[in-house]
Amino acid sequence: MASRSRTTQLDKRFQSLDLLATLVAVVDAHGGVLFANSALEDASGIARRSILGVPLTDWFTEPELLQSALTGATDNEYAVIRYDTRLKRLNHEPLPVHVVVAQTDIAGEIVVELLPLEQQARQEREERLIDQAMANKELIRNLAHEIKNPLGGIRGAAQLLQMELDSRELVEYTQVIIHEADRLQSLVDRLLAPHKRARVVGDVNIHEVCERVRSVILAEFPRGLKVVRDYDISIPEFRGDREQLIQAVLNIAHNAAHALKERIAQRDAQLTFKTRVVRQTTFGRQRYRLALELHVIDNGPGVPEEIKDRIFYPLVSGRDGGSGLGLTLAQTFVQQHHGLIECESEPGRTDFKILIPLP
Ligand SMILES: Nc1ncnc2c1ncn2[C@@H]1O[C@H](COP(=O)(O)OP(=O)(O)O)[C@@H](O)[C@H]1O
Ligand SMILES: [Mg+2]
Repeated sequence: MASRSRTTQLDKRFQSLDLLATLVAVVDAHGGVLFANSALEDASGIARRSILGVPLTDWFTEPELLQSALTGATDNEYAVIRYDTRLKRLNHEPLPVHVVVAQTDIAGEIVVELLPLEQQARQEREERLIDQAMANKELIRNLAHEIKNPLGGIRGAAQLLQMELDSRELVEYTQVIIHEADRLQSLVDRLLAPHKRARVVGDVNIHEVCERVRSVILAEFPRGLKVVRDYDISIPEFRGDREQLIQAVLNIAHNAAHALKERIAQRDAQLTFKTRVVRQTTFGRQRYRLALELHVIDNGPGVPEEIKDRIFYPLVSGRDGGSGLGLTLAQTFVQQHHGLIECESEPGRTDFKILIPLP
């Protein structure tokens, strides 16, 4: 009874650890679990009710490592100890983790933090993506403004010059200047567009978004391209900007259709829209209870190896006549929904995954 009330008290004190995406346990000097946060509960697949008091060492493939770390911590030999090992999981392969064991100010309470090694790598990659996107936005905005201002002057001057010219041949030159200035102008406008446009927020049904994109793509490629829908219709609606999301998915689907050119000609191109709900997931530095995944998968040749790491950068394009803006805009739009786009690609299968948190 006494130990039970101690547990409840501890639960309250450690409640905020449940909000963390990191796996955390608080243990006593012998490794007995006083608290395990929900991230740890999810990762191990073991309900925490059934593990309180059980030694945490039992959860690892090499229990002696944790045991000696705990001894070191209680004997004040070290303040913090780190090592790599594997966490046992119910119904899953053990999970490689980086373990951080740290003393607290309270005697007999030691904090054990577990960082899944693969998750750590993924998280770092995602953080890089987000930082990049922010740096991109800044760069694009500044650059676009720098180009926009003198451009008006160049075009105006060419027009004035043209009025003074009698020779048709020379007028052709001023025409080229005006035409190219207009082309740059529209590029710059497109670069600035996502930052200018006010967002229209409403209830978004992700399948409506997919269906719209599907009909646009099918109108463009009526033959040779099969569009497969694999929908989880239980996905709830969420607040967002429908038009932005249609544009984002359309940009991704368009790229796929371009990549599928040869297969479309051979009549065996396939584009799949697959939606799923995911629970307890972490992306973009945050943990979400519920999120949706929309995969846009094609059976084309894959993203060219030399630009694979940079496809979300502005002006990076692998094809003639490409602007390299499609994926940059798509990423910006999805990030405005607190989401993220990731890409996995190999010859024969390219999968763009859009993640968006659900309420
Ligand atoms: N599904 C895909 N399959 C193969 N390559 C792709 C795919 N999606 C994107 N890419 C590559 O990424 C590049 C960048 O795409 P994007 O930002 O839309 O610019 P753009 O389409 O104007 O080139 C494309 O040019 C293409 O090389
Ligand atoms: Mg594109």
